[in-house]
Amino acid sequence: MFATAFLDLPPLQSASGTVQLPGSKSISNRVLLLAALATGRTVIHDLLDSDDTRVMLTALEQLGCGVERSVGGVPTDVAVTGLAGVPPKNAAKLFLGNAGTAMRPLTAALAVLGGDFALSGVPRMHERPIGDLVDALRQLGCQIDYTGNDGFPPLKVGQPSLKLDAPIAVRGDVSSQFLTALLLALPLVAKQDIHIDVIGELISKPYIEITLNLLTKFGIHVKRDGWQRFTISQGASYQSPGEIWVEADASSASYFIALGAISTPATGSIRIEGLSENAIQGDIRFVDAARLMGAQITSGANHLEISKGAWPFTAIDLDCNHIPDAAMTLAIMALYAEGTTTLRNIASWRVKETDRISAMATELRKLGATVVDGHDFISVTPPAASDWKPASIHTYDDHRIAMCFSLAAFNPAGVAVRIEDPKCVAKTFPNYFETLFEVVKPRSVPVICVDGPTASGKGTLASRVAQQLGFHYLDSGALYRLTALAAKQQGIAWDDEAALAKIAAHLPVVFEGQAVLLNEDDVSELIRSEEMGIGASKVSVFPAVRDALTALQHSFARLPGLVADGRDMGTVIFPAAPLKIFLTASSATRAERRYKQLISKGISAKLDILRADLEARDLRDSSRASAPLKAAEGAVLLDNSGQTIEESVEFVLNQWRSKLGL
Ligand code: DC
Repeated sequence: MFATAFLDLPPLQSASGTVQLPGSKSISNRVLLLAALATGRTVIHDLLDSDDTRVMLTALEQLGCGVERSVGGVPTDVAVTGLAGVPPKNAAKLFLGNAGTAMRPLTAALAVLGGDFALSGVPRMHERPIGDLVDALRQLGCQIDYTGNDGFPPLKVGQPSLKLDAPIAVRGDVSSQFLTALLLALPLVAKQDIHIDVIGELISKPYIEITLNLLTKFGIHVKRDGWQRFTISQGASYQSPGEIWVEADASSASYFIALGAISTPATGSIRIEGLSENAIQGDIRFVDAARLMGAQITSGANHLEISKGAWPFTAIDLDCNHIPDAAMTLAIMALYAEGTTTLRNIASWRVKETDRISAMATELRKLGATVVDGHDFISVTPPAASDWKPASIHTYDDHRIAMCFSLAAFNPAGVAVRIEDPKCVAKTFPNYFETLFEVVKPRSVPVICVDGPTASGKGTLASRVAQQLGFHYLDSGALYRLTALAAKQQGIAWDDEAALAKIAAHLPVVFEGQAVLLNEDDVSELIRSEEMGIGASKVSVFPAVRDALTALQHSFARLPGLVADGRDMGTVIFPAAPLKIFLTASSATRAERRYKQLISKGISAKLDILRADLEARDLRDSSRASAPLKAAEGAVLLDNSGQTIEESVEFVLNQWRSKLGL
């Protein structure tokens, strides 16, 4: 997961390959609650591991359910032993983050079971309406109080005195989760037939179908009269099915369906495992909408395959009430369509993780699109190919905004797309970007080169910049130091070019986080010694050694990007890098830094000797015939003698941002 403040996506060119998607969020949290209410132990396979399921699992544990994680060593398999309809005895304070799929049904289930419970979430959760559900539950005698603002969590739940004779009325036109919550809760108290009447037009019907489908698997057959009246029969009781499988998330699939249609070369395809066109999730109908725009999609028993169809896409005008979440992906596909795409009947977007209509409109406009938005619709007209603008996409703590906007990186203008707060995808798809990077090909991997003399602080600067950007990091000096060390260990002299080149070509090196392993031994400290620094400087003068290390250095350039430090990153190894920094500091400053470093490690040193060594090494590195140390053409010169490390990092990040046009 990228825990950085932002993630820069370089212009992407194509995509092909197979992706395995995480389990459906809607199914995962419903199944967890059903298993918690049922009699018996349920093994849940392919459960989504995300923020929303994690808060649900913690809540279930607090309520006294048996929860076993990683059953049989499989991280996505979880077993839950249910309460068997018995109310939890102990009071509990449940924190449910921003998980609507936990807050609504848990409120209903606990309110009918009765007890002493407090339910709260993050500030945004306290702005998401729950009044219609609370009204419905109060009608049937549940004891629920608002402890913050009326109509919103946080809530306090007490002992009910249930009256179940009259039909229970619930509004269906704000969120289908209220009806789902009642359907999940009321079988717990079905001492008689219970009727639920839906007031207003029911939105997001497919989510109700998921609820009904899963209730059946746990032994509850709800009678349905159109979409207006639902009846739970007297004597209904939850029974565990023993085992249950969670389908891959159809809303998550929408990004890869769109990806296949936007970007696959004529011969390639994107294959999505764990989901077919017959999935029970409503968002699977996204495939129809994507086909209307031009995607070529085939379905197998448990996979989908997407290849390029019509291009550019055909603009559509579509009622998206049946696919509210996946429809956000259509708004991004609209950027690649000819004409104006209008998505209608999406008022529910306004009460999701954020006001999604206004958020999508704001962010699409940043890219250059023309957007008209209203109470329950959005119209998107793409910019002309040359009018796309680089944009920093604000994501509003909304996983779907982060994921769908990543697809804007295929823009024909080749402008960069920055995704702010990329870790918000953890809500449903923690490894979204890693999964994306496995199947996409960029026009080129962005590389930032930091070259400069010894002890100029390149390593610290480059690794900090890499950390801030979520980029990979190459310490090329370490490769020369490793070559010197391996040679010493094998008794090979530091002037035997042919033998050194052989060693360099097959360095048994592994980089594990901060640690460097040679032949499986951690040599991170050993290669940092003054002796290996001098050895590296000696072995690095030989062209055969440098050639032998080139391919290894190139292999570090992977998405989302690389920061590489050394002497010839910008001149020889990555000459096409978009940003090159040439870092210097006076030899007095560098000698002093090295001196402090050594002393702090308890190694004795003399300042004047260190300075003389440094100057000798500078001379050797910059006067050698092969790839001498010098500033690359177009490199930005940075003398950090008077700077703190934070100032230097800030300087490089600002240079990078302006390279991207942000
Ligand atoms: O950056 P460093 O101090 O770890 O580098 C050790 C030696 O390796 C340096 O004196 C010269 C050599 N080197 C090189 O020739 N080319 C590089 N890209 C990096 C280091």
